Amino acid sequence: MSLIQFELNGQSHSVDAQDNDNLLDVLRNQCGQKSARLGCGLSQCGACHVMLDNHAVPACSTPMWSVAGKQVITLEGLGQTDNPHPLQTAFCQQQAAQCGYCSSGMLMTAAALLKHNPHPSPDQVREALQGNLCRCGAHNRIVRAVCQAAQSMERV
Ligand code: FES
Ligand code: FES
Repeated sequence: MSLIQFELNGQSHSVDAQDNDNLLDVLRNQCGQKSARLGCGLSQCGACHVMLDNHAVPACSTPMWSVAGKQVITLEGLGQTDNPHPLQTAFCQQQAAQCGYCSSGMLMTAAALLKHNPHPSPDQVREALQGNLCRCGAHNRIVRAVCQAAQSMERV
């Protein structure tokens, strides 16, 4: 075990962890961040996506040694109920979730996309979200929500 320091949702954080512990377990079990979810555990479904230095990564297969000194953002850090991120507003307005299991990962992947490409086309949104699976089939509504959020962020 060693002390690993990183920034979590804007706050300096340190955890006692093995270098090869995965970020998802640390976030859920040590940091109280329950939004990122375990799906496949194999980097194949996107349910666990968080932002690491502004890039969407599968937390289930991100070893803690690679997190040291970096900035992690989870859905808890994206927006709050009384001050939602435009993506969260758009997901609600477009009803872009059914069971919601994929939503956290979808939102974090979309947030990373908008950081690097504030004006994505629907095809670019689809491409960015290709690693995020939705077993409920809400993909079309999710793409519409991401495009709506991009437009509303343009107007701010
Ligand atoms: S649980 Fe991490 S990608 Fe599926
Ligand atoms: S809303 Fe159910 S998995 Fe996407």
